Amino acid sequence: MSKPKLIKFEEYKQFPNTFDVEDTANKGQWRKIFGNDNPIVIELACGKGDYTVGLARMNPEVNYIGIDIKSNRMWTGAKAALDEKLTNVRFLRTHIDHITEFFDTNEVDEIWITFADPQPHKPRKRLSSYKFLNLYRQIAGERTLVNIKTDSDLFYESSLEQAQQDQLTILSKIDNVYLMNPVPEFLKIQTYYEKMWLGMGRTIKYCQFVLGNCESQPIEEED
Ligand SMILES: C[S@@+](CC[C@H](N)C(=O)[O-])C[C@H]1O[C@@H](n2cnc3c(N)ncnc32)[C@H](O)[C@@H]1O
Repeated sequence: MSKPKLIKFEEYKQFPNTFDVEDTANKGQWRKIFGNDNPIVIELACGKGDYTVGLARMNPEVNYIGIDIKSNRMWTGAKAALDEKLTNVRFLRTHIDHITEFFDTNEVDEIWITFADPQPHKPRKRLSSYKFLNLYRQIAGERTLVNIKTDSDLFYESSLEQAQQDQLTILSKIDNVYLMNPVPEFLKIQTYYEKMWLGMGRTIKYCQFVLGNCESQPIEEED
């Protein structure tokens, strides 16, 4: 049986590889925290941190930070990273809207967004909306890659539409990941939500684009 939420909240705080909403002093200090100059990749809305931990296993020379507001979910990834002695993994509890309080200009090298809420009625709240892309540009350089994996046609199409409107370079656009032959190792990692959506017969999509240095504007459907 899964541990009760309250115990996970407490244990998350005690884990040596986790940070919480008050840890804003880490801004600009992440390479010191990892003790190396390796690239820093963040996973936004990471849930249980399946991608953070999965990618960290594959790439020990890259630092990964999973970010979510729910520490009881991140507990799973943080515990796995500790059990496996993965030194290139950290977790941070914050609202993504506050991300600039935790990272300095150019501190982030790559971004992953996995199975985020498509926010059908609040497009501005979508993690790939113009509002969030402009936020990411405050912490990540113009060459930063943004990776999106989703079951949602709305999230996928609107992310690509935003990237096209901003004239960003789209490097990858895969309408059905599991029709690829072979499926690249980094796309074989499956999150908790991905497994759930696959079980319901949903198609998994992936795209990757370059963040760029423009100022994104709302796309037309937006409020
Ligand atoms: C649908 S779940 C996906 C979790 C994980 N990526 C997966 O695929 O299993 C969405 C996650 O986004 C988090 N979330 C949503 N909005 C957020 C925000 N503004 N800031 C931080 N986390 C957020 C939720 O707590 C939740 O864990």
